[in-house]
Amino acid sequence: MYTHLGSVTLKTGEQMELGVVRCPDPSWARQIKPFLSHKGRETKDFFDAAFERPMDGLETRFYVGTIGGLLVTNVMVAGARGAGILGHVYTAPEHRRKGAYGQLMPVQMADTQRAGFRALTLGTGFETHAYRIYHGNGFRSIDGTSGRMKWLAQPDVEARYFRSGATSVRPARWDDWGPLNLLTYQPVQAGEELPRSWSFRVKGQGSLEGTFQALQRDIMRQTPITPLALESEHGATVGWAVLQPDNVAFGEGWLLDLYVHPGCAGDAGKLLDAVPWPDQGRVAAYTAGPEGYRTAALRDFGFRPIAELPDWLQVSGKPAPLRVLARGQMLRD
Ligand SMILES: CC(C)(COP(=O)(O)OP(=O)(O)OC[C@H]1O[C@@H](n2cnc3c(N)ncnc32)[C@H](O)[C@@H]1OP(=O)(O)O)[C@@H](O)C(=O)NCCC(=O)NCCS
Repeated sequence: MYTHLGSVTLKTGEQMELGVVRCPDPSWARQIKPFLSHKGRETKDFFDAAFERPMDGLETRFYVGTIGGLLVTNVMVAGARGAGILGHVYTAPEHRRKGAYGQLMPVQMADTQRAGFRALTLGTGFETHAYRIYHGNGFRSIDGTSGRMKWLAQPDVEARYFRSGATSVRPARWDDWGPLNLLTYQPVQAGEELPRSWSFRVKGQGSLEGTFQALQRDIMRQTPITPLALESEHGATVGWAVLQPDNVAFGEGWLLDLYVHPGCAGDAGKLLDAVPWPDQGRVAAYTAGPEGYRTAALRDFGFRPIAELPDWLQVSGKPAPLRVLARGQMLRD
């Protein structure tokens, strides 16, 4: 569904119409998908799905600037429960430097806030032209040195979003995408067990924007992956457990990936309780750093340390051993 959001004048004097397309909307797919045809496979799969059908509770909005009905500039916001991902910013080469995106973005930000979004994350190159446009619209680098940026409607949004409260476990869904990216953008805590996620390829404070899409695509292709999410009563996704074929071991056996926000460390066992443990074969978990909630929870569910790889990962700037924990049967002749 398209909603008109206004009309602006470009530096050339051309009139550009601004609007928002709320997915699903197959009619706009015909224009927006070719406009973003330079995107990678996972993203194209996501577009195919988003324009065609509802994706759990994910709200996907494409903000567009058009001249004579033709696309000139675009930005997408996708998310749920107040937290979204901003991406796919693009102006057609022949329309650049006319003020097209610079005029679309503030209108998009105002509309996104009206729609209830309180936190947005994005990834770009540090201090690029796009970075400066985002900075001018309230985004800040999460670490001061990278192009991973976030915008918060008020300074205390995250403190309120991640405050402790009752939690429940359910299958992870598309509407966890934005909330999960906000979660993995949180700073690494002193003594935190890393990497944060093998399944999402997040080592420390980082993004799962692309890898979440890739995992969803693998699930659509029938790879036997069970993703579970821990949701707090305040709407935040505060943890996950993913059971999947262990790619480190060429799919022989299973990999269990576990992470929870520090405020909910006591609920890690709830996630493990909901894992459909395989009847046969080993399940491995890999972790580095001082033993913390993750190792403790895994031990409670029968995992035992079976190996340690010395100086295997950089943790807080120092080489640290990687511990391999496993439960279930090892390979037998
Ligand atoms: C980044 C991009 C979206 C900007 O779109 P645009 O419609 O040309 O942006 P605007 O004309 O509104 O530019 C706004 C301001 O950004 C800065 N800017 C943008 N492109 C610039 C460039 N190539 N060189 C210098 N400054 C630039 C300028 O300050 C500009 O204002 P000004 O022209 O009045 O000086 C566009 O260049 C693009 O599509 N690039 C390729 C895709 C991309 O990089 N996307 C972002 C990935 S996260």
